[in-house]
Amino acid sequence: MAQIKTLGQFIIENQADHPYAKGELSRLLRDIGIAAKIVNREVNKAGLVDMLGQAGSTNIQGENQQKLDIYANEQFIAALKSGGECCIVASEENEEIVMLDTDVSLHAKYIVAIDPLDGSSNIDVNVSVGTIFSIYRRQSTSGRATLDDVLQKGVNQVAAGYVIYGTSTMLVYTTGKGVNGFTLDPSIGEFCLSHPNMQIPKTGIIYSINEGYYVHFPQGVKSYIKYCQVEDDSTHRPYSSRYVGSMIADLHRNMIKGGIFIYPVTAAAPDGKLRLVYECNPMSFIIEQAGGRATNGKKRILELDVRSLHQRTPIFIGSEQMVLKAEEFMADAD
Ligand code: AHG
Ligand code: MN
Ligand code: MN
Ligand code: MN
Repeated sequence: MAQIKTLGQFIIENQADHPYAKGELSRLLRDIGIAAKIVNREVNKAGLVDMLGQAGSTNIQGENQQKLDIYANEQFIAALKSGGECCIVASEENEEIVMLDTDVSLHAKYIVAIDPLDGSSNIDVNVSVGTIFSIYRRQSTSGRATLDDVLQKGVNQVAAGYVIYGTSTMLVYTTGKGVNGFTLDPSIGEFCLSHPNMQIPKTGIIYSINEGYYVHFPQGVKSYIKYCQVEDDSTHRPYSSRYVGSMIADLHRNMIKGGIFIYPVTAAAPDGKLRLVYECNPMSFIIEQAGGRATNGKKRILELDVRSLHQRTPIFIGSEQMVLKAEEFMADAD
């Protein structure tokens, strides 16, 4: 039986990777892990505790909030507030930044951007959902941290990760030194290292896109989809089409098996649907650290200017060779 290594042990063992972090980042990751276990408990029994369905409210995105969106949001904010290592939380579910201004948090070094529950439309149908988080160091050196401390480019991220509440619950994260995956062992209530040094295959045979919007896709995307569907044994085409509707689930599958996920501009989402700060930047950091590629069809996601909290962007993300091929079709169509 291989030696169990818990998330806590792993974080401490790798703390030396961050000389400037005197344990704060480790404690911050621990706080996130705790909140993930609490949310996991509710996700796993949502149907039994009236946690399904809509909350009756609408968020800044114009989406009907699910009860679990709100519950997860509250749990992560509470865990970050009590942990004292974070001064601001930026959340999909909050129009403005949330100042964690307790005596301790006011002087904390870290900013956390979060999608507390990704894939909300899948909650009531028992399909995998997740949480996405992104961690920055505040840039301001005096007074209270501000929105400017949040609107940093993705390249500035100190850490990023996701939790997938699926057939098993996993926490996958990077601090810029590769990607490691931990599986929750409910019998001991610990995330245990199960996928050390995750690497996304350089190519794959799965493409993931909501083809319901095909009519309004940019020509380059239409051409790439047709390329995926053409018979060609030498490049293992036609590829398989897989689309879960939870970015987390689609990207985690592609991390393991290889593949490309595309959410381009559509008629309903002229800037794309997915949010840069708490979906695209963290997932792009993770995918790049695993050897993959993430762009908006032209430009690296992590280098995009961040102008507003809920800014959206098109995203082409996954196996490096597949994203490069899709970019070729985008360039040819220009
Ligand atoms: P969220 O549930 O956090 O709002 O995110 C949902 C996102 C993402 O998870 C998924 O890939 C995408 O919305 C699905 O959008 P469509 O239903 O338009 O395909
Ligand atoms: Mn949402
Ligand atoms: Mn989301
Ligand atoms: Mn969400």
